[in-house]
This record gives sequence, structure tokens and C-alpha cells, in this order.
Amino acid sequence: MELRGSSAIVTGGASGLGEATVRRLKDEGAKVLILDVNDERGKQLAAELGVEYAHADITSEADVIAAVEAATALAPLRATVSCAGGGGLGGRTIGRDGSYGSAHSLESYTNFVMLNLVGTFNVIRLAATAMSRNEPDADGGRGAIVTTASVAAFEGQIGQAGYGSAKAGIVGLTLPVARDLAAAGIRINTIAPGLFDTPPMRAWGTEMRDSLAATIPFPKRLGDPAEFAALATHLLTNSYVNGQTFRLDGAVRMQPK
Ligand SMILES: NC(=O)c1ccc[n+]([C@@H]2O[C@H](COP(=O)([O-])OP(=O)(O)OC[C@H]3O[C@@H](n4cnc5c(N)ncnc54)[C@H](O)[C@@H]3O)[C@@H](O)[C@H]2O)c1
Repeated sequence: MELRGSSAIVTGGASGLGEATVRRLKDEGAKVLILDVNDERGKQLAAELGVEYAHADITSEADVIAAVEAATALAPLRATVSCAGGGGLGGRTIGRDGSYGSAHSLESYTNFVMLNLVGTFNVIRLAATAMSRNEPDADGGRGAIVTTASVAAFEGQIGQAGYGSAKAGIVGLTLPVARDLAAAGIRINTIAPGLFDTPPMRAWGTEMRDSLAATIPFPKRLGDPAEFAALATHLLTNSYVNGQTFRLDGAVRMQPK
């Protein structure tokens, strides 16, 4: 699939893995639209790179439709990389004192699923709708989507019921959505990152990050967001890759805590 002459949406493009993907797709010649809720950083990055920014919450139908329309106004939308999300620890399933009130907050669980899973699916369904109107390329392709899960989809740690199940949901939708979109010539693949050097990870401090890096078999360091962007770009442009989740993790396997 050709990125040059296409528009590309990167959700969560104002920071971290999304920002690196914005930079890479811009270098590849795509007309990039950053979709984010961090207006200050999103506008700053868009101005620096000469790309577009749209304020949109991935869980909002109206916001995402407006962003998709803004991207299609630049050029046919053929690429979407969904990075917006996040989370971490939400607490244990039951509390220490045996009271119902001390059980895991249902609101917090719902928030993890709403942001990471429902938000990602909202972007997929609306971006794919716009892609389905594109002229097909020589292979019959009209577009490609990459979503972001986490190794927590497979090895969620203690306290990660919400985040782990939301990310497992992203893994779980990859094949059925690839099958749904096959008739339209749209591919979808998922990246499950391990431990990457992005702002949320930097907030942990050097000592914690060094100890996390020591658990990674090889290379013994956190992932570079540019390495995520390189895989995302490959998955967008290699027309034979479809319906698969790829771990990008230096062979790390997360322990219970
Ligand atoms: N960094 C890691 O080690 C790591 C590991 C596994 C998975 N991930 C996943 O990768 C993705 C990116 O993580 P990151 O580390 O780059 O985080 P980050 O915080 O640097 O970037 C996330 C971006 O998403 C935006 N965002 C948050 N909620 C949004 C919403 N509702 N609508 C639109 N934008 C929203 C934020 O404003 C931010 O710019 C997340 O889905 C995260 O769960 C990260």
C-alpha cells in the first residue's frame, strides 16, 4: 500500500508511540492528521512538522467522524494507527477487609474498557467506513489499520484486570474485524508493545525504569518509540499482513507483579 498521496490518522499522536508514528508517516510522505485530546502538545507538534491536528476523544462518535472527514479532505484516508489509550494499575479484584464496597471499582473497570477497547473500536469502524469509499489499488486494497494492545493482553499483572482485559479485547477483535473488512479490501493488524520509553514510563523515574529494563532478555533496554513506528509503518504498507497481533517486546514476559 502506498502512503504517499494518502492521508493517515494517528490517534494519541501528540505523545509517545503515537508521536513517533506521526513523525515516521510524515517522513514516508503521508498527509498526517494527529487525533488527540492534548490540544497544547498536539498543536505544537503539528506546527513543528507541518501536519494537521484535530481535537477528538476516541470514545466520541461525533469527534471521530469530524477528524476522519478532516483527514479525507487532505487526501484519501488509507492509513490509521490507533495509539490513544493507557492505564496501568486499577487495583485488585477484591479488597482486604471482605466488604463489597472494597471490591474493585466498577467505574474504574468500565473506564479502562471504554477508553482502550470501545474507543479503539470506534476509531476502527469510522475510519474503515471512510476507507471503504476509496478507489482500490492494484491488489484491491483500500486502506490499512494498526491498533495498539499491550503485552498486558497476555500477561496482565496484579491490579491490571481492567487494562489487561481491555487490551485483550483489542487482540480479540483483530481477526473478526479483518474478516469483516476483507470484502472492502481493508487490512487490520495489532501491535502488542512491551516496555517503551514514553512519557508515562518516564514518570516512573530512572531507578524503576532501570529495574524494568533488567527484566527484558534482549535488548536490555526500554523500547524506542521509533521501533514501534517502524513496525506500524511496515504493517500499513505490507499488503500481505492481515488479521494478526505482533508482540514488540524484546522477548519480555511480565511477571505477576
Ligand atoms: N509505553 C509503553 O510501554 C506501552 C506498553 C504497552 C502498551 N502501550 C499502549 O500504547 C499506547 C500509547 O502509549 P504511550 O506510552 O505512547 O502513551 P502517551 O500517554 O505518551 O500517549 C497517549 C496519547 O493518547 C492521548 N489520549 C488519551 N486518551 C485519549 C482519548 N480519549 N482520545 C484521544 N486521545 C487520547 C493522550 O493525550 C496522549 O497524547 C497506549 O494505548 C498504551 O496503552 C504503551
